[in-house]
Amino acid sequence: MVKIGNLEVGEFPLLLAPMEDVSDPPFRAVCKENGADMMYTEFISSEGLIRDAAKSVEKLDIYDYERPIGIQIFGDKIDSMRQAAAIAEEANPEIIDINYGCPVKKVACKGAGAGILLDIPKMQEMTAEIVKAVDKPVTVKTRLGWDDSTIRIVEVAKRLQDVGIQALTIHGRTRKQMYKGVADWTKIAEVKNHPDIHIPIFGNGDIDSPEKAVEYKEKYGVDGIMIGRAAIGYPWIFNEIKHFMETGEHLAPPTLEERVSVAKRHLEFSVEWKGERKGIFEMRRHYTNYFRGIPNFKPYRTRLVESDSFEELSGILAEVSEVFSDVVPVV
Ligand SMILES: Cc1cc2nc3c(=O)[nH]c(=O)nc-3n(C[C@H](O)[C@H](O)[C@H](O)COP(=O)(O)O)c2cc1C
Repeated sequence: MVKIGNLEVGEFPLLLAPMEDVSDPPFRAVCKENGADMMYTEFISSEGLIRDAAKSVEKLDIYDYERPIGIQIFGDKIDSMRQAAAIAEEANPEIIDINYGCPVKKVACKGAGAGILLDIPKMQEMTAEIVKAVDKPVTVKTRLGWDDSTIRIVEVAKRLQDVGIQALTIHGRTRKQMYKGVADWTKIAEVKNHPDIHIPIFGNGDIDSPEKAVEYKEKYGVDGIMIGRAAIGYPWIFNEIKHFMETGEHLAPPTLEERVSVAKRHLEFSVEWKGERKGIFEMRRHYTNYFRGIPNFKPYRTRLVESDSFEELSGILAEVSEVFSDVVPVV
C-alpha cells in the first residue's frame, strides 16, 4: 500500500496531473468517476491567495467525492508560499502540493515553478518552511532540472525528503525541454531506486496507453503514475489502465453514448462552475479526445468548438448522439 504520510492511496495509484484551466472541479468529477485514485487542483498563485484574489480563491473549491485531493500552490517568495500553504490547508484538502515544475516564462523566469531548480538551497528552505506551516502532508511536483547540464534530481529528492515532504512526483523533462522530446524515466528510476529515498516517487510524462503504463511501472519501479495530457477529453484512461494492469486485457472503449453523456455532464458542470462564457471556452480542448475514433466527426467537432451558446451545444451533442448512434468508435 502506498502511503503519503498516513494517507493510503492504493497499491499503485494513478494520479490526475495538476493542469491549469483543465484540472478543475468539472473535469476532476469525470476523472474520479473513471478511476483516478488521487487528484490535484491546478496550480494556484500564492500571491493571489494571500491577497484574496477571487480568481485564486475559487480554485480552492473541493468536493468530498474528490478525496483524496491535493491543492497545488506556486510562487517565488518563501513568506508568501508559507502563508498560502496555511490558507490552502483551511480548504481542507488531504495534501498540500508545491509546484517546482512549471516551465512557463512568466512563472519560471521569476524563480517560481521550475525556476527554483536553479537555486536548490532556496527550494529546500521554502519547502522546510511550508512543511512547518501546515499539519497536512506536503508533496512536491518537479522536473529533472533546469536543462541537461543542471540535472540534480537525486540531490533535490534527498534534500526535500530531509525537510519532510511525504511524496515526490517527477516529470521526466527539464525546464528547457518544456513539453518537447520524450520524458526520460531513467532519471526518475534513479531517484526511486536510490537507497536513501523512502518516500513514494510518482513518475510523470508521456503515459498515454495501458501498455505504456504497465511497461513503465515494471521497467522503472515507481510507486504510481501521474497522467496529464492523455486524460484531457479521455477520463476513461484511468480505468483502462487499471483493468489492463489487473487482467492483461483491454477494457472495451467507451461507447458513443457514454462519450456524449460524459461530455455533456462535463460541459454542464463547467458552465455551472465557471459561467457560460469561460465554461464553454475551456471545454473546447476536450472535444477532440471525447470523440476520438469516430469517422467523419470533423464537422461536428468544428461546430462544438465554434459555438458559444450552451443551448446550442446541448443541441449539437444530442444530434451527435442520434447521427452516430450505430457507430462503434475505433480507438
Ligand atoms: C494544459 C496544461 C496545464 C498544466 N498545468 C500544470 C499545473 O498547473 N501544475 C503542474 O504542476 N503542472 C502542470 N502541467 C504539467 C502536467 O502536470 C504534467 O506534468 C505534464 O503534462 C506531463 O505529463 P503528461 O505527459 O502526462 O501530460 C500542465 C500541463 C498542461 C498540458
